[in-house]
Amino acid sequence: MLDRASNTAPLPPEIARRRTFAIISHPDAGKTTLTEKFLLYGGAIQMAGQVRAKGEARRTRSDFMQMEKDRGISVSASAMSFDYGKYRFNLVDTPGHSDFSEDTYRTLTAVDAAIMVIDGAKGVESQTQKLFEVCRLRDLPILTFCNKMDRESRETFEIIDEIQENLAIDVTPASWPIGTGRDFIGSYDMLRDRLELMERSDRNKVAESIKIDGLDDPKLAEHVPAALLEQLREEVEMARELLPAFDRQAFLDGTLTPIWFGSAINSFGVKELMDGIGDYGPVPQPQSAEPRQIAPEEDKVAGFVFKVQANMDPKHRDRVAFVRLASGHFERGMKLTHVRSKKPMAISNPVLFLASDRELAEEAWAGDIIGIPNHGQLRIGDTLTEGETLKVTGIPSFAPELLQNCRAGDPMKAKHLDKALMQFAEEGAAKVFKPVLGSGFIVGVVGQLQFEVLASRIELEYGLPVRFEPSQFTSARWVSGPKDKVEAFAQANKGHMAQDNDGDLVYLTRLQWDIDRIERDYPDLTLSATKEMM
Ligand code: G4P
Repeated sequence: MLDRASNTAPLPPEIARRRTFAIISHPDAGKTTLTEKFLLYGGAIQMAGQVRAKGEARRTRSDFMQMEKDRGISVSASAMSFDYGKYRFNLVDTPGHSDFSEDTYRTLTAVDAAIMVIDGAKGVESQTQKLFEVCRLRDLPILTFCNKMDRESRETFEIIDEIQENLAIDVTPASWPIGTGRDFIGSYDMLRDRLELMERSDRNKVAESIKIDGLDDPKLAEHVPAALLEQLREEVEMARELLPAFDRQAFLDGTLTPIWFGSAINSFGVKELMDGIGDYGPVPQPQSAEPRQIAPEEDKVAGFVFKVQANMDPKHRDRVAFVRLASGHFERGMKLTHVRSKKPMAISNPVLFLASDRELAEEAWAGDIIGIPNHGQLRIGDTLTEGETLKVTGIPSFAPELLQNCRAGDPMKAKHLDKALMQFAEEGAAKVFKPVLGSGFIVGVVGQLQFEVLASRIELEYGLPVRFEPSQFTSARWVSGPKDKVEAFAQANKGHMAQDNDGDLVYLTRLQWDIDRIERDYPDLTLSATKEMM
């Protein structure tokens, strides 16, 4: 259990001002639009529309990965840093498609909070629910943004009830919408007693904010039509009676989510949400590790790799490891110890992901994400320190849910396939198993779409056409236990055994029944569907 209270040293101000978070949502709820507005208010882009600008010379971080654009889906996590008021925001992008949930899971190990975007007309959708569950596994504090309030949306109480019931989390309104659809005029800021009015004539104009003195202030009637005002007063009174008040500790514990109602495309409610992350959001949190947890305020630098992106530039075969700094003050040129290999690494070209471009990072603090270009030394789950042997924990690898045989279209090029598959395995894009008997590879993924993405990347990046064919197996389990027992088991089940890309032993099968039987017949062995990344 992570323990903030036991850390007595105060956080250095540079760390205390950092907010590292991700946005989760069901596709189409408005994540891209909201991200764009964040970047706009963070001064990272000058004009709305830049994040999406297609085929133009102007490029932003979201266009950074050409592959991503070509595939038309967001398959890679990227990080964007920008200042907002006195805060430094690190926004980590999560792949939206459900087929990339493992990647998303690991991305969420690198953040301290998440913003959940829902569509006001659709409420909690399937992907929102899944991603929320992942956040809950880590008790991440969650801020909710109910988007598209400029369109016909559900009743406010209904939306709040749905979140409370489906996600089993308490909800407190940070704002209350006034009117819906075409009658939507703005919201009442419940935390700061202000009236926010939406500007319909200019989507990029930030709402007019009017300071009022509670709901009885006569000034309200100057801005809100009588019928809406009466409804607002009634609803807010009811909300205050029925719903929990904002409680920062409950929010930080992940049991209460504040909800803002807004419209990302109309720039409405976005600044209030950003103020919310800044003012109430968590500072960089301690990181679980063995043999001890890492506190952000420690002088010495420690960090871990949560994502590897290969072939960002296909001409150079470079890889970038995304590292979350868990502690200390990092400066360019520092020598860090790569704990897994015990080798020193001079970090001379670290990259900071500013929204406009990638830039060399001269310095970074706990909470920041930096990119470290490398030739394959850095893998997901790796820890970097200033010498101490620490191993960050809690970055799992999941057993794949789909398995297929992978063959090179041209048998002469089978060797290259080996290399390509290993690279994708290290990137975390797929599991690659080498059967103990026979030749070829079995590739495991979480969703069907990943096979298509892999095939196209292998062809594009290695010039190698490949075929994926059905495999006789459907499940994989990592095998562990006393050495002699594992060996005896592997010997007796050769046809089912394979090694993953780290050389760890895996049992492949098509029947849950098999797994149950082994657990019964070999009580000393553990068959596991997850593995800690080493
Ligand atoms: P995503 O990243 O979560 O998939 O969502 P994205 O921001 O791409 O938004 C999905 C669609 O919803 C987009 O429309 C976007 O313009 C629209 N949208 C986002 N925020 C709001 C809002 O506050 N109100 C309304 N009415 N619509 C909103 P699109 O037609 O798919 O794309 P585009 O042609 O507008 O670019």
